[in-house]
Amino acid sequence: MTNLDDLLRFALDAAREAGDLARRRRGEGVQIAATKSAAADIVTAADREVEALIRGRLAAERPGDGFFGEESGAEQGTTGITWVVDPIDGTVNYAYGIPEYAVSIAAVEGEPDPQHWQALVGVVYAPAMGELFHAVAGGGAWLDAGAGRVRLAVNDAPTEAGALVGTGFGYDPATHAGDLARLGRVMPLARDIRRIGSAALDLAGVAAGRLDGYFERGLNPWDHAAGALMVEEAGGVVGGLPGQRPSTALTIAAGPVLFARLEQAIDGR
Ligand code: IPD
Ligand code: CA
Repeated sequence: MTNLDDLLRFALDAAREAGDLARRRRGEGVQIAATKSAAADIVTAADREVEALIRGRLAAERPGDGFFGEESGAEQGTTGITWVVDPIDGTVNYAYGIPEYAVSIAAVEGEPDPQHWQALVGVVYAPAMGELFHAVAGGGAWLDAGAGRVRLAVNDAPTEAGALVGTGFGYDPATHAGDLARLGRVMPLARDIRRIGSAALDLAGVAAGRLDGYFERGLNPWDHAAGALMVEEAGGVVGGLPGQRPSTALTIAAGPVLFARLEQAIDGR
């Protein structure tokens, strides 16, 4: 039997240690190590070091589990549990000294594919803001910050002013026209738009009611694995293309009323 408390304890400890390392390295100065899918898609030395730290802890403490990380790839395990890790989500913010960046760690069960997996635990830690979000399947979504621990709940009361909606844009310039057209279709629902720069924090923001909704094309599994569980455990809905779960093609997250409206607007029919 999978013990969710053990998974959560591991995820919280690893995220704290990893986030504190990222923050320390930020204070020492940022080194861009390479570009990835496009010139704007960067990886810093800290991204790699932070992922290596989490992977090393897993190998030492939970050697049978699988791993699926942004910087160092995938490795199948034997326990049926896979850890889906984004060491620094919001790397461009990190490089520019904007505090909205986070370590995202999720434990999922089943095939390590967001169309099929069952998320068990998700942790998103934003060390520069001192905010630690976590969710456990069936156990709610929570935020630990200066004031203590609070339970999270999505907003789902439509107002005349419209919804505060987060989104993001892919690094590949070829995708920008499509991203902007999608945004244009959502605009009539919105009171305003936020581009925070970290998908994990966008999703945690929906869970916390700081955003009414969020959508983005082009996410990778590690961007949304932990945050999607947070939104669901806070009473929200997370999906992708109509009738599907979140994928690279599309991720939408909101309370149930706004989710249906966003899905329809984005679909454009
Ligand atoms: C990115 C951030 C960003 C989103 C991009 C992601 P990274 O992750 O989550 O908000 O718009 O699609 O790739 O590169 O900072 O780990
Ligand atoms: Ca990311």
